[in-house]
Amino acid sequence: STLLLLNGPNLGILGRREPEIYGTDTLADIEKAVATEVSGASWEVLSLQHDSEGDLVRDINRHHSGTVGAIVNPGALMIAGWSLRDALAAYPQPWIEVHLSNVWAREQFRHESVIAPLASGVVVGLGSLGYRLAAQALLELAGANR
Ligand code: DQA
Repeated sequence: STLLLLNGPNLGILGRREPEIYGTDTLADIEKAVATEVSGASWEVLSLQHDSEGDLVRDINRHHSGTVGAIVNPGALMIAGWSLRDALAAYPQPWIEVHLSNVWAREQFRHESVIAPLASGVVVGLGSLGYRLAAQALLELAGANR
C-alpha cells in the first residue's frame, strides 16, 4: 500500500525556511520519519512537493487509485487554494491536513483553511511530529495498525 505525502509551496526548503517557525527538519527528514512510521504495516510513502497549485492538483488526480490515503500540508494554499480544495474533494481516500506551525497563533490570514472542512483530521503546531501523528491516524483509519 502507498501513502501519499503531499507538500505545497515553500515546503521544499524546509530546514532553512524560517527555522524559528518551521523547525530545522528537512523534507527528506520528514519523508524518512513518515516512512518509518508506516513501515510496520508494510506501507510505502510517495512524497511529492510542488510550489504550484496545478502540479498538486494533477498529482492528486493521478493517484486516486494506488494510494490508501494522504497527508497534505497545503502551505499558503490553505488560504485560497480552491482548485486544490476541489481536487481533494474528489480524492477517494482519507487524508489529513498538517501544518508545522500553530496557524492560529499567527497572522489572521492563516486562521482559516479552505481544505480543512474536507479533511478526516487536522494536525497543527506540532512541527514535524505532526506528520508522524497524521501517518499513525491514517493507519488507524485504514485498520492497518499493528
Ligand atoms: C504552513 C502554514 C501556512 O500558513 C504557511 O503558508 C506555510 C506553512 C505550516 O506548515 O505551518 O507555508 O502550512
